Amino acid sequence: LIGVFDSGVGGLTVLAALRRALPHASFIYLGDTARLPYGTKSPDTVVRYSLQCAKRLVDRGIELLVVACNTASASSLGALQARYPQLPVIGVIEPGAAAAVTASRSQRIAVIGTEGTIEGGAYPAAIRRLNAAAEVTTLACSLFVAMAEEGWTDGAIAESVARRYLNPLFGSGRPAPDTLVLGCTHFPLLAGAIHAVLPDSVKLVDSAQVTAAAVVRQYRDPKPAATTGTVRFLATDGAGRFARVGGRFLGTPLSPSDVEIIDL
Ligand code: DGL
Repeated sequence: LIGVFDSGVGGLTVLAALRRALPHASFIYLGDTARLPYGTKSPDTVVRYSLQCAKRLVDRGIELLVVACNTASASSLGALQARYPQLPVIGVIEPGAAAAVTASRSQRIAVIGTEGTIEGGAYPAAIRRLNAAAEVTTLACSLFVAMAEEGWTDGAIAESVARRYLNPLFGSGRPAPDTLVLGCTHFPLLAGAIHAVLPDSVKLVDSAQVTAAAVVRQYRDPKPAATTGTVRFLATDGAGRFARVGGRFLGTPLSPSDVEIIDL
């Protein structure tokens, strides 16, 4: 059983990638919808919330924990590993950083995420651990979170917000980055609009996909190939909204009756 948690529905992009990669594994997903967003909260608070989410999943018998939230991965991975030394804990930052270093020819890499993820500096640190000479520029793109939840992911509004955020990163006179890390669960939904306002040559790195690959390296698909794994959904508030908005992130429809509401 693999546990996955996120501040809300965004981590369902990671769950979707995990299910494609491990179709026979069973998952339990917890979205802390009552306390979202994490991206604007202080690191101490995010660590406290993350430990509570993890405990609930550990109590349900998980064998591996995926921190699908970039903000939680950025601030809480060390605390989670210290609290559960026997449990493999995989966040989205290291896999995303590794994919960016592999994808980039120039090693000029831009990273976008929530305020919490960007201010903590976890992505530049992870990238520089792999290549000390990499040039990393970062930017918080907070509005993208609300836009993805609202479904405003393409067209004129999405592109104009994307241009407003990204022009300074890619058009400031300095040599432009050739790789952009989508360092937030919500940003892959805006990939089309982001791509549309950047030069064609810029590669987008989606940490959901590469995190699934990192999990596959640590978790052997346990069941015979004839069976399909199960998924349980837990949330701390709003089964209706979780199902409605979450279905878009997961890529398959969800019903409120699929979602168990819990208190942390
Ligand atoms: N899941 C968060 C992340 O990936 C985005 C939403 C939030 O701020 O809670 O950083």
